[in-house]
Amino acid sequence: MKKKFIPVSKPLLTDIDILNIFKSLKQGWVSSEGPNVHKFEKKFSKYLGKKYSVAVANGTAALEIAVKSLGFKKGDEIIIPNFTIISNALAAIKQDLDIKLVDCDLFDWNMNYYKLLDSITNKTKAIIVTHIYNFPFRIDNLKKFCKKRKIIIIEDAAEVFGQDILGKKCGSFGDISTFSFYANKQITTGEGGMISTNNKILYKKMMSLRNLCFGKINRFNHDDIGWNYRMTNIQATLGISQLSRINSIVKERQRIGNIYYKLLKNVKNIYIPKPINNVSKNIYWVVGILLIRNKNLTAIKVIEDLKKKNIGARPFFWPISNQDVFKNYKFYDKKKYKNSNYLSKQGLYLPNYLGIKKNEITYICKSLIEILQKY
Ligand SMILES: Cc1ncc(COP(=O)(O)O)c(C=O)c1O
Repeated sequence: MKKKFIPVSKPLLTDIDILNIFKSLKQGWVSSEGPNVHKFEKKFSKYLGKKYSVAVANGTAALEIAVKSLGFKKGDEIIIPNFTIISNALAAIKQDLDIKLVDCDLFDWNMNYYKLLDSITNKTKAIIVTHIYNFPFRIDNLKKFCKKRKIIIIEDAAEVFGQDILGKKCGSFGDISTFSFYANKQITTGEGGMISTNNKILYKKMMSLRNLCFGKINRFNHDDIGWNYRMTNIQATLGISQLSRINSIVKERQRIGNIYYKLLKNVKNIYIPKPINNVSKNIYWVVGILLIRNKNLTAIKVIEDLKKKNIGARPFFWPISNQDVFKNYKFYDKKKYKNSNYLSKQGLYLPNYLGIKKNEITYICKSLIEILQKY
């Protein structure tokens, strides 16, 4: 009998989530005006230990608002990782900032710390620190460095919500931190995002930017060029419901990651990050693996072979430096960033949705090993 397709990701919606949404719909709140948006923001801030949070339409919107709220000038320099989601670059480009890219580390896939330090100049106004896939970037160390030099840190914690660095929550380090609640994230609101900060002025600016910058005196004479990036009450209701389970969600991700690690750690030609390092437990937002040594073996080939066995898998990010849409920008360079290039061709991630069964993971690993023997 043909096996049922195992998707790379799917959200876990419990009966309580559904009941909570049903109850809030019964009360008639559908737009962003409903009480649960503010309630979600409050609970989120409390969980994170930050003063203020602004719920928005998605993680990309969160980054756009965060960057714009800082009021930089055209041409100001911002540093971002090269191996990351395009949203990091878009937020900077939309404010006409000058982007500097930093290559990633081959082992933990975050920006390489020393390359980042090397690329900071006295023109650097801000850094977007994005924690990638498994382990957090050492933002705790960077923070001290940036504080002295008055460089702003925007912490993109979309992938690591619920993880910590030496006991302090990821997303609580940045001057501004951003999150996504897309369906594959630790908690989901369908689409959705959040921005958190301790700075009241930035908070007020961000609240205004997400809501068309309505005028304070004459509502329809707007204060600035903003967006409608509001979150609905329905989404916020789901967010509150999911947030209440964050600890068990993180444990489940780690449990799944650990099963994969045990099954794959000794397989030739694969690198899989371990379950723990000296500051943090691996959150396994995705169970990423790197195909090593054999140059003929690319992630795309393995993904195609896995698909034939009814297993979903995805390639890693495509570097910002190599995006054809950016070919007219100064930072476009297909050769310079060797580690990002390597990861983007040789990296893939495997199914790890909440609730995946152990026998499914065993089947995936067995299939992967069989495929690798072909090459
Ligand atoms: C690190 C990171 N930042 C931002 C985003 C964008 O979030 P969204 O899809 O909600 O716009 C993602 C999406 O996966 C992401 O991984």
